[in-house]
Amino acid sequence: MAETKPCREEAFSLLKKYNKNEGLIKHALAVEAVMRYCARKRGRDEEMWGVIGLIHDLDYEQFPDQHCRKTEEILTCENWPTDYIRAVLSHGWGICTDVEPQSDLEKVLFAVDELTGLVTATVLVRPSRSVLDMNAKSVKKKWKDKSFAAGVNREVIEKGAEMLGIDVGELISDVIMGMREVAGEIGLRGDPNVSG
Ligand SMILES: [Fe+2]
Ligand SMILES: [Fe+2]
Repeated sequence: MAETKPCREEAFSLLKKYNKNEGLIKHALAVEAVMRYCARKRGRDEEMWGVIGLIHDLDYEQFPDQHCRKTEEILTCENWPTDYIRAVLSHGWGICTDVEPQSDLEKVLFAVDELTGLVTATVLVRPSRSVLDMNAKSVKKKWKDKSFAAGVNREVIEKGAEMLGIDVGELISDVIMGMREVAGEIGLRGDPNVSG
């Protein structure tokens, strides 16, 4: 069968078929939004970047021990194009796959995935619980505190930024900008009446 570009609707219904956990859906939406923001910033294919961001952890709820590999199987069955599948696999480079990020899309996905977790954790300890009034400085402070959101692998993020040739501060700003666009959907709109 000829490969056609998967659309956002198809990706989202597949995501919901395999994931019931609200936190995982919110993570997928956050990564999608950041990928879209970064694609626009770079003048790239926003739909493709967004769809890959949305689907990247497809198998994580049901097959955490086969993370990435199971997604490869599912997307292959669904006739997804090989470049989409490769991009998804590359986010697990050095962790659960040996597919090294090569394209800009792959490098951005690798770099921002963990960072969305640190940004979310930082928002949730703020009085406003809002990503809309938070800047990169707040996240940088938490970055240094290794006991804060200890599960977030700072080394992976640093490696991603290095691959992209940008500093972590710029990456953090991009992630915040992307996540702001879906603040309501990912539960990070907070209380506008509380500042800080
Ligand atoms: Fe993952
Ligand atoms: Fe992820």
